[in-house]
Amino acid sequence: MKAQEFFEHIWQDYITIAPGAKILFDRLVVKEGTPPINDHVAFRTYDLSPVNLEVLEKHFFSLGYKRYESYEFKEKKLSAYSYTHPEGHPRIFLSQLKTAECSKRLQDIVKEICTSMDPTKPESIEVMWSGRFWNPIPYSVYQELVEESEYAAWVAALGIRVNHFTFSINHLQTIHGINDLADWIESQGYALNTSGGRIKGTPEIKLEQGSTMADEIQVDFAHGEKHPVRSCFYEFAQRHPVEDGTLFNGFVAGNANKIFESTNVKS
Ligand code: NI
Repeated sequence: MKAQEFFEHIWQDYITIAPGAKILFDRLVVKEGTPPINDHVAFRTYDLSPVNLEVLEKHFFSLGYKRYESYEFKEKKLSAYSYTHPEGHPRIFLSQLKTAECSKRLQDIVKEICTSMDPTKPESIEVMWSGRFWNPIPYSVYQELVEESEYAAWVAALGIRVNHFTFSINHLQTIHGINDLADWIESQGYALNTSGGRIKGTPEIKLEQGSTMADEIQVDFAHGEKHPVRSCFYEFAQRHPVEDGTLFNGFVAGNANKIFESTNVKS
């Protein structure tokens, strides 16, 4: 599979659960007269077999991606890698929940999810856009997860799937700078994630980012119940040049730590 085809698949999955993201994208296409460039996409998972990072990243390697940098999020108990492609395809960010650092109860819930799933599914790249492939959990269990880790709850409810696409502000023609874009998104009726401020990061740390709050969709839970869950959001990023004149290529943990909260139930 080519990277281009991979992005088409995950885009289709994304707009299925984040219809608001598609509307925003389409409006920006009209405003710009051309499709905006995607800075990066992000995926979330657990550090347990068969869906741990080392298993899932093989799909990125098969597309020609290489590991770029590792990141740690102490408070959210996550570790992550970014991946870059020699042909300039959008960066990929993959994080995983370090379950051993979580409560015994959370570990039990996540272990049960991981042992109940078909272990052959994650071996195929389609796992990245096929939605949740395990049985729905009871809503009360989901709520327990939310109390300890919004991240753990998101994965349990939605599965392994793209969490956001990102407008590259550096490539926009009609919008100049991150505040301009944030203003425009708000003018379109979208709420921005204001955790840690509307804009995360500064030109000094080479990366400024912001995001919409995630769409809310109805998700299936056990016993035939449906409840609203925040699915996916749109991010926007402005990169600044580093010493050699090229644009900063990595991520900043302090920024990402707040971006994660765009899918929070408690927000
Ligand atoms: Ni991001």
